[in-house]
Amino acid sequence: MLNKRFHIKTMGCQMNEYDSDFLAQSLIQNGFSPEKDIHRADLILINTCVVRAKPEQKAYSFLGRMANLKETNPELVVGMIGCLAQMKGKELMKRFPLVDFVMGPRELGRILEIVKDIYDRRQRVVATGLSVAPPPPVKRTGYFRNQTSGFISIMEGCNNFCSYCIVPYVRGREYSRAPKDILDEARYLLSEGMREITLLGQNVNSYAWKDENTWNFASLLDAVTDLHDLHRLRFTTSHPKDLSEDLLACFRNMDKLAGHIHLPFQAGSNRILKLMHRGYTREEYLENIDKLRMSKDNIAITSDVMVGFPGETEEDFQFTLDLMQQVEFDSLFSFKYSDRDGTPAAKMPDKISEGVKVSRLKRLQTLQNSITLKKNRNLEGRQLTVLVEGTSKKGGQLTGRTGSNKVVNFDGNPGMVGTLVEVAIEAAYLNSLKGQVIEH
Ligand code: SAH
Ligand code: SF4
Ligand code: F3S
Repeated sequence: MLNKRFHIKTMGCQMNEYDSDFLAQSLIQNGFSPEKDIHRADLILINTCVVRAKPEQKAYSFLGRMANLKETNPELVVGMIGCLAQMKGKELMKRFPLVDFVMGPRELGRILEIVKDIYDRRQRVVATGLSVAPPPPVKRTGYFRNQTSGFISIMEGCNNFCSYCIVPYVRGREYSRAPKDILDEARYLLSEGMREITLLGQNVNSYAWKDENTWNFASLLDAVTDLHDLHRLRFTTSHPKDLSEDLLACFRNMDKLAGHIHLPFQAGSNRILKLMHRGYTREEYLENIDKLRMSKDNIAITSDVMVGFPGETEEDFQFTLDLMQQVEFDSLFSFKYSDRDGTPAAKMPDKISEGVKVSRLKRLQTLQNSITLKKNRNLEGRQLTVLVEGTSKKGGQLTGRTGSNKVVNFDGNPGMVGTLVEVAIEAAYLNSLKGQVIEH
């Protein structure tokens, strides 16, 4: 399979970015080379997401646009990978004749075997097992991100079954990865010059492993922060119902642990939280926020929320806005609820109209933008430590992130990439800060 060129299109969450990195590395180590131009590729992999209607549509329209690629390159092989592939399986191949194989997130370890099979025998393949062993660790280079900051998956799947969510069905049951594999991967990223690591899982607080020692999420954080070349450690996502005293202690005691937590709240009304099967009340959520703020000065808190869950009244929605005002999130991902086939919420009565969802989302985002801007403006005049990631998109300047995960652009030299610099913040915008380096 030498001299074949592959192109990977990634949609969805950071987990998918990580999986795409796994696929890229597996292919590179077996003689494939990456190709940026999709029209020149011999193998196209589309790593898909199905968490909401929008990413699902995005995958279909991408496939639609590619429909005649095989006319110019009959040798081309196309694979649909990831969560949408897992969900729809064979159906996708019926609908899109272009697709040669479909592979779910738990079958990624079979990529080479499947691709080889298709090149040899030209047979279409569906690989959507859910109990398959995790793919073996490969050396990862953060191929899809910058060269300073990389991801490591610490657990797969989810056992929470929030009533609206498709993830447990397409990613399977939860399992943790061995600390040794995680630490080996971390050492490799650091040896490649990376200085920041983000540990990934749908619900990182329930990380658990047993060897000579008994591991939980806090002991894993402890072991990773011990690695010498690491400047900064992040993790995502935490579930509010599992926020432990151990984790609060990590924020108090570990200097390398970034002062940021992503803690999705989803809704501010207890009635809706219950229908969502989230396992906490708004009061418990707010209590967690207080504890976090007591554990770490200026900790940044970000979150996910959705509007228009079945049965959500104007009063329920007001509880969401009220919670946002109380917490003042640093930033917020907000979504319109969409039915996902096979989830309990899809069968619930009292669906909310698209018009109401659109208007609630707009009101919510207007409020959050004013909060985000206010919080960013509070940083003007302050000095913040920035890990430099590369040159900014607009060119010329360098770009990096604070521990609180805010993007900072500033003048500097490329030798600063991968280092921590002190930056005086001069101006704040909705999505970034601007500053001057005061110390390198
Ligand atoms: N594991 C993470 C989030 C995974 S999905 C967690 O538990 O928080 C990312 C976000 O997508 C969720 O936080 C939720 O806000 C949103 N989401 C999930 N299912 C959705 C649906 N059916 N409709 C709209 N948004 C949804
Ligand atoms: Fe989905 Fe809930 Fe699991 Fe998050 S915790 S992935 S929202 S089921
Ligand atoms: Fe991620 Fe989407 Fe799958 S959010 S876990 S890629 S459904």
